[in-house]
Amino acid sequence: MNFKAQLQDYASFTDMKLDFYLPPLDNDQKSIYEAMRYSLLCGGKRIRPVLAYSTAALLGISKEDVAPFACAIEMIHTYSLIHDDLPAMDNDDYRRGQLTCHKKFGEAQAILAGDALLTKAFEIAGIGAIELANKMPEQAVRGALILRALAASAGSEGMVGGQVIDLEGEEKVLSKETHETLCALKTGALLTIPVQISVLYAGMTNTPVGDLLIRYAQGLGLAFQIKDDILDVEGDAKLLGKATGMDEKCNKTTFVSLYGLEGAKARLKALTEESLEICDQLSDIFPERTEQCAFLRELAIFLLERNH
Ligand code: IPE
Ligand code: IPE
Ligand code: MG
Ligand code: MG
Ligand code: MG
Repeated sequence: MNFKAQLQDYASFTDMKLDFYLPPLDNDQKSIYEAMRYSLLCGGKRIRPVLAYSTAALLGISKEDVAPFACAIEMIHTYSLIHDDLPAMDNDDYRRGQLTCHKKFGEAQAILAGDALLTKAFEIAGIGAIELANKMPEQAVRGALILRALAASAGSEGMVGGQVIDLEGEEKVLSKETHETLCALKTGALLTIPVQISVLYAGMTNTPVGDLLIRYAQGLGLAFQIKDDILDVEGDAKLLGKATGMDEKCNKTTFVSLYGLEGAKARLKALTEESLEICDQLSDIFPERTEQCAFLRELAIFLLERNH
């Protein structure tokens, strides 16, 4: 399969699994499923699940095996977007090409939809941990390690922590160092965890391969936010599915505000080159996994060049 076909295959597989894990139940609280499914199943690039499947493939693990964890991450990511768009935070009206959750269903329901996606994520990750324990009873602890890492990536030492610094940064100009921490947390954490989970699943934590993969993901995570900041300035709102110009409007400290458009682009390019160097090292380690290594290479380039 070529890169584009594989990417599409991973995204469609994710959509199918998310639909399966989040059925619209017919109960007294059924309106919550409408709001959750509205935000979750309406597009989104599914980059985080793609990172889980592609790195798992390199380590010889099937996408079926990591699917519950990949879907859990996508649910946490979607919850973070719903809350990020609330009037109390970035106050955005469009997301993924449609009205934001609170614009469509009201603020209270959007807060609850976010809460419910976050908690559903841990229910589904729990299913993943049970499946792992059934498959490899002697390695059952890996499921617990994955759950712990997933929680840490989402919470106050992860994405939520980054959002806190991001909001506080609206009142003052952040130092370059603090801003870097902000990005590593608010965006990097949820882009690194898919890879961390593949590594944990394979029992390769603290090995040279595990460390290389995590470094690859951390670089992509930072690059991803740089690109997001650049697209907020010069992207096409129609293609992006969300408004542009919002960072300046909210007085955010971003890569563009700190380094200028050209400076941000140069940093993005340098980070992508570092990711490609890591891919070269992975190719040397896994000469028989040419296709999987090539995918990770092309993914780094795709994220550099993306226009949405
Ligand atoms: C947007 O994430 C928020 C950031 C972390 C920059 P994505 O660009 O992955 O959004 P979707 O999932 O494709 O909508
Ligand atoms: C959001 O960063 C990161 C999250 C944790 C949701 P942004 O606020 O820059 O994301 P967009 O631009 O609204 O997608
Ligand atoms: Mg934000
Ligand atoms: Mg935002
Ligand atoms: Mg942004």
